[in-house]
Amino acid sequence: MDIEAPGEAKELPKIHRLDESVVNRIAAGEVIQRPVSAVKELVENSLDASSTSISVVVKDGGLKLIQVSDDGHGIRHEDLPILCERHTTSKLSKYEDLQSIKSMGFRGEALASMTYVGHVTVTTITKGQLHGYRVSYRDGMMEHEPKACAAVKGTQIMVENLFYNMIARRKTLQNSADDYTKIVDLLSRFAIHYIDVSFSCRKHGAARADVHSVATSSRLDAIRSVYGLSVARNLIKIEASDNDPSSSVFEMDGFISNSNYVVKKTTMVLFINDRLVECTALKRALEIVYSATLPKASKPFIYMSIILPPEHVDVNVHPTKREVSLLNQEVIIEKIQSVVESMLRNSNESRTFQEQTVESSPSVPSITNNESHLNPSPSGSKSQKVPVHKMVRTDSSDPAGRLHAYLYKKPQNHLEMNSSLTAVRSSVRQRRNLRETADLTSIQELINDIDSKCHSGLLDIVRQCTYVGMADDVFALLQHNTHLYLANVVNLSKELMYQQVLRRFAHFNAIQLSESAPLQELLMLALKEEELDLECNENDDLKMKIAELSTCVPCDPLWLRLYKPLIFCR
Ligand SMILES: Nc1ncnc2c1ncn2[C@@H]1O[C@H](COP(=O)(O)OP(=O)(O)OP(=O)(O)O)[C@@H](O)[C@H]1O
Ligand SMILES: [Mg+2]
Repeated sequence: MDIEAPGEAKELPKIHRLDESVVNRIAAGEVIQRPVSAVKELVENSLDASSTSISVVVKDGGLKLIQVSDDGHGIRHEDLPILCERHTTSKLSKYEDLQSIKSMGFRGEALASMTYVGHVTVTTITKGQLHGYRVSYRDGMMEHEPKACAAVKGTQIMVENLFYNMIARRKTLQNSADDYTKIVDLLSRFAIHYIDVSFSCRKHGAARADVHSVATSSRLDAIRSVYGLSVARNLIKIEASDNDPSSSVFEMDGFISNSNYVVKKTTMVLFINDRLVECTALKRALEIVYSATLPKASKPFIYMSIILPPEHVDVNVHPTKREVSLLNQEVIIEKIQSVVESMLRNSNESRTFQEQTVESSPSVPSITNNESHLNPSPSGSKSQKVPVHKMVRTDSSDPAGRLHAYLYKKPQNHLEMNSSLTAVRSSVRQRRNLRETADLTSIQELINDIDSKCHSGLLDIVRQCTYVGMADDVFALLQHNTHLYLANVVNLSKELMYQQVLRRFAHFNAIQLSESAPLQELLMLALKEEELDLECNENDDLKMKIAELSTCVPCDPLWLRLYKPLIFCR
């Protein structure tokens, strides 16, 4: 700490007026905080211009290029000179208009801000014009007179080299890989609210859009197309309203996830008077309801649209318009919270397990979702061949994972035999395995033993079950009709291998080992291990004899596996 010497008074800091360019750049840095803020402003402008189709192209997470094209009403030629000046807008004239404002923009700051932190080019055409105009802007000013150009209906705005003059911010953003993800997420949110507008978002040069929604009349369809089937099928419709001026006036409708939806992160898409906003208090209140109501600590998916009288909403509370403040906010939140709670309680009484489908890619919501986004994507997924060792039995009627493939059922009657499909299958099977089983009486006896002990109920469960997942290292969860079963996978696998060995006895393929296996030693090992399992009393000499005798059989490792159960006749 510096201690001032007496009489040595420091000169007081002088206050001076900041240069306008500095003021503008500081203000711009607040409005456009990262590439996704620029995309939000541009998309909101397109929506304000009554567009029905909005497409976004992004390069390098938005730092190199953001391009938003729409088919809205366009910008008048005579407005182009002041388009990107600060505080120029077509949406507000006097302060009082804010009370009843319907458009998302009102400050006339967004485009100006972009010109202070990036290079902006606007191409636009209005109704009735023969050609459009293109003009570039820097620091709020036109760089040249608007040039006539070919244009399609609407406006295209390009922002290049964002934050070129803000070195620190550019560096921070260059290192963060998630800006494109944020942009996809933003577009996904708009797409499920503005369902009469089609949205697309893709990386520059990419053939496939990561968000691709088409105009639809059903909100649920929009959610399905954007966030994927796994989200859409687990949603409950929700509505609430109040019309008591002494407490609250609002109408709310939306969708919330039910007890079958299990994820670790909350997705809350909230629109208040058609503005995409955040409301931490409402989000917390709903998360509390979920954790208190549902047995699993799952985070919810919530889409909610709240409509209030415009004069009850203050839209001018945040530099990026991310938040709004509501009249009677606590009352509204409490009411919504109690409606959500009662819906959840009802839905939690019945819980269903959907059959898992084998998906080719993990889900990200891409609107084309990524049953993407990170949902990964419903509209873009192609079915892919799954390697046999990765196959999961997800549908008991799907031959890909059938467990009873080994249990060949002989045709019951002549008719069945004559069915063409059965005949083809049977001939293929015969070509593969000349005989189903060996002729040995001992084998036949073991097979008969299995068949005679077969429990028809259990067999049906095994045949028709659907694999849900592993409950732990040993038990798998299986669904059969409306019941859930825990199956010991170790025991099931042993039995499966044993029966497979019996039924394919003498028809295994031979495997040539480069060095012959020490059969006698292996047999001794197996015999001793069996002794532990079964507490048999054979002495070591007898075991040695069995091992010696057995070594006379051809050296096939499968022999060893099938030999063990045969010796002990189970
Ligand atoms: N895509 C577009 N189509 C038609 N007009 C547009 C478009 N984008 C911008 N404009 C016009 O340019 C004006 C300035 O846009 P800008 O986003 O800077 O301000 P704003 O939308 O009025 O307010 P805010 O700063 O709150 O967004 C708008 O008022 C609108 O008239
Ligand atoms: Mg705007």
